[in-house]
Amino acid sequence: MAKTRTQHVCNECGASSPTWVGRCPGCEAWGTLVEEIVAPTSGGSTARLGSSASPVPIGAVATDEWQALPTMIGELDRVLGGGLVPGSVTLIGGEPGVGKSTLLLQLVASYAKRSRRSLYVTAEESAPQVHQRAERLGLLHEQLFVVPETVLPHVLAHIEEVKPEVVVVDSIQTVHDPALTSAPGSVSQVRHAAHHLVGLAKRLGVAVVLVGHVTKDGSLAGPRVLEHVVDTVLDFEGDRQQGLRMLRPVKHRFGATSELGLFEMGDTGLRDVPDPSELFLADRVRDVAGSVVVPTVEGHRPVLVEIQALVSNSSLASPRRSVQGVDPGRLAMLLAVLQQRLRLFEARSDVYALAVGGARVLEPGADLGLALAVVSSLTNRALPDSLVVCGEVGLAGEVRRVAHLERRLREAARLGFTQAIVPPSDVEAPVGLKLTTVASLGEAIARTGVAASVHPI
Ligand code: TYD
Ligand code: MG
Repeated sequence: MAKTRTQHVCNECGASSPTWVGRCPGCEAWGTLVEEIVAPTSGGSTARLGSSASPVPIGAVATDEWQALPTMIGELDRVLGGGLVPGSVTLIGGEPGVGKSTLLLQLVASYAKRSRRSLYVTAEESAPQVHQRAERLGLLHEQLFVVPETVLPHVLAHIEEVKPEVVVVDSIQTVHDPALTSAPGSVSQVRHAAHHLVGLAKRLGVAVVLVGHVTKDGSLAGPRVLEHVVDTVLDFEGDRQQGLRMLRPVKHRFGATSELGLFEMGDTGLRDVPDPSELFLADRVRDVAGSVVVPTVEGHRPVLVEIQALVSNSSLASPRRSVQGVDPGRLAMLLAVLQQRLRLFEARSDVYALAVGGARVLEPGADLGLALAVVSSLTNRALPDSLVVCGEVGLAGEVRRVAHLERRLREAARLGFTQAIVPPSDVEAPVGLKLTTVASLGEAIARTGVAASVHPI
């Protein structure tokens, strides 16, 4: 076999160099060169390029082969918009230990159970380890094939041989091609492997799912460098200590990227969480100052989340602002509004704010709730139990409209809430829910009575 020739190509401008250099000879960017295999070229005839497609009117394009195969895992199908598309490549990124291998083992098993042949390429764990996990989770099915493999050409050969409908490669960072001199997990190896897997997926019409590890500082090559190569990128995240896991689409060529999938990690693997509001409000303590329930929307899905704030005197030169699951920038803005517009807050205080239960509420629609939670903590007056609050707050302290208000309110009514403070709108209140519209943060504070008197400036 002829020795494979490699070259170094700039990620930014595409200039090439036979050896690695720190600075691109083309665009002069630093550290952008990656190693690539040079495909042998011979002859210039287009016949070598294979058959080419003929242009057809757009209405006549055949779409049958692009029908998604449902995974039958409810939350995964929700995020994917119906299932995996044959010939597509999906990348699932997440920190080690979040549950990627578990989710994907459940995924291939779900297909295998319905007699769709599936292949799980394990490049990190041994085959007995995967077997053990599958056995414990009750996922041993005849059509589920497993192979421990880290060498790219072998992985490709296994896929050609088994001819599965769905393949999982766990993980893309541990698969490498010995023809490249760079280390497994390096940018060039990861891109090279992904490139070949994408080509094979399209050619065979097999749905490929790649696992990519990301560390907190994003230092490992993986999801980031592959985003443009694959069809779909999903982020799998959650606290390792807590059971809750969230699956979010970052890029999706076959559907929306606004959906959120929720899972709970238990003793028998990952379980769907079809009713997140119930989960987030499960341990709610009532009549506590600094707590407020906010109806948020994730994708098309309304989710009620409890937001808590705690304000205390600070002994620090620069007071602490500690947040979890809420946007620190928005909190800082709201504190400034409370301080400057309403004289209700002193910058010398420490402020802690969090979304309970590992939820993440970054949308501006949570502003009013967060601000009321802060005021409630400051004055030590609790908000009513039966109240939900939503609205965006502007720099003048005005309350602005939020999207999908009707959907949010229906969810609040479903869970038994009876009062809602909302921005001015002509939305009809669902049965059992009394709406109070407020035009400003000061008005919301006055209406709820969390602060005795407010003096807008
Ligand atoms: P894993 O899928 O191996 O994570 P990743 O592939 O993202 O690194 O799972 C990680 C954790 O999940 C592991 O620490 C144990 C836990 N776990 C459970 O709690 N229950 C289970 O049924 C399984 C399979 C794993
Ligand atoms: Mg794993």
